[in-house]
Amino acid sequence: MSNNPSPTAVIVLAAGQGTRMKSSIPKVLHAIGGRTLLGHAMVAARELDPAHLAVVVRHGRDLVAAEVERVDAAAVVVDQDDIPGTGRATQCAVDALDAAAGPLTGPVVVTASDVPLLDGATLAELVANHVDDGNAVTVLTTVVADATGYGRIVRDAATGDVTTIVEHKDASEAQRAITEINTSIYVFDADVLRRGLGGVDQNNAQGEMYLTDVIALANREGRQVRAVIADDPMTVEGTNDRLALSVLGAELNRRIVEQWMLDGVTIVDPASTWIDVDVDLAQDVTILPGVQLHGATTVATGATIGPDCTLTDMEIGADAQVIRTHGSLAVIGAGANVGPFSYLRPGTVLGAKGKIGAYCEAKNAKIGDGSKVPHLSYVGDIEIGTGSNLGAGTIIANYDGVNKHRTVIGDEVRVGSDNVLVAPVTIGDGAYTAAGSTITDNVPAGALGVARSRQHTSPGWTATRRAGTSSAAAAAAAEAE
Ligand code: UD1
Ligand code: CA
Repeated sequence: MSNNPSPTAVIVLAAGQGTRMKSSIPKVLHAIGGRTLLGHAMVAARELDPAHLAVVVRHGRDLVAAEVERVDAAAVVVDQDDIPGTGRATQCAVDALDAAAGPLTGPVVVTASDVPLLDGATLAELVANHVDDGNAVTVLTTVVADATGYGRIVRDAATGDVTTIVEHKDASEAQRAITEINTSIYVFDADVLRRGLGGVDQNNAQGEMYLTDVIALANREGRQVRAVIADDPMTVEGTNDRLALSVLGAELNRRIVEQWMLDGVTIVDPASTWIDVDVDLAQDVTILPGVQLHGATTVATGATIGPDCTLTDMEIGADAQVIRTHGSLAVIGAGANVGPFSYLRPGTVLGAKGKIGAYCEAKNAKIGDGSKVPHLSYVGDIEIGTGSNLGAGTIIANYDGVNKHRTVIGDEVRVGSDNVLVAPVTIGDGAYTAAGSTITDNVPAGALGVARSRQHTSPGWTATRRAGTSSAAAAAAAEAE
């Protein structure tokens, strides 16, 4: 087979409405695996390294165009006009690319935008087949149990080549019995495509310009049209409704999880583990049940995540342990410990061998190497040095109702339990604060800050003020001993 020939252009059709999603969001902007359907189509297309990548838009035009730009700024957005159909969509793209870069020549790939499991390798094989066989058109097809609604592949009985594609609504009873269907993924010779589209009309059951009509027109010119059957139907399955979205989302996840296991990650329960396409895991990471890793999350070697974590755009260091934690845009250092039941908000950076323990919330908090926030604390807008410890129930009061203020805690500081540190405040290196303090003034290095009232004790109070109670009886018994 040819050595991965690159096509001249890939045209992604994304102008359709997607009515069956029943959504105010354009269909192609629904996401699985942390990437929109359109994003999946564009990433697969880019893997072919085409000279031009065009996306045809119309429904939800501005939203879809913004997503095209976000995914791949080098892609060209083409607007489809009022004439409906996949043929018109493709023609708009061919016209735009011809105008921008001179007439296209060579192989042009056309794909649908709602086939999220389609990968670059499947497309590359299709292009290689097209070039090797010297085809004018190569159609990617699949065989399904229920072909209702799809275009049927009509083959020449003698050669097996494709003679025409008939849309379901235009098909005869005999043609409807065909179970091989058009996936809406093709390679065309640019000239054949341009000429064919010039001859496509709207005389059909849906009054649309059908791209599929180019196949019969190519045959009429005596050109060769062949089909490649996708071995794996899921790879070419479209997403028409939210049921399909969940089925394909689960399948994509199954594939991602399987690949990570083959790459050396221990995943105890694949069924309850969800990993987005852009997540990166090192060898010897362990994922316990109930974990969702989203966005650009990375996990370094030896780390254990879970059970029950939801981490988005997080960076987890080597050998860290993260248990029952919800976090986003936060960094957990090497060998650090987090959880259970903690919430890491954006800007949290926990140093190596640091700890954010149970029932803590951190936001915009830089916590130095070996420093610990072990229990029931809120730390926000704070910088903590190395080797410091915040007692149970420490609250950083960073917000005065109008403005946020910063707190700075030095190295080897010991903040007592149940402290409120009222920002802005600074605790120097090696300083201590007493349990139960509300610290409003700076505590210099090496000092003890105590900010609580002294205890007053009234001996015999229970006997006189709570006479006759079980407490008074217990107090009397203690005195008798
Ligand atoms: C099309 C094919 C059909 C195939 C089916 C696979 C035609 C005429 N029929 O059916 O043979 O079995 O896909 O799902 O091509 N689009 C546009 N502009 C339009 C209409 C559609 O860009 O005016 C885009 C859609 O966004 C989508 C793709 O083209 O990505 C396919 O459109 P869709 O309506 O799903 O397919 P059908 O026309 O029903
Ligand atoms: Ca369709």
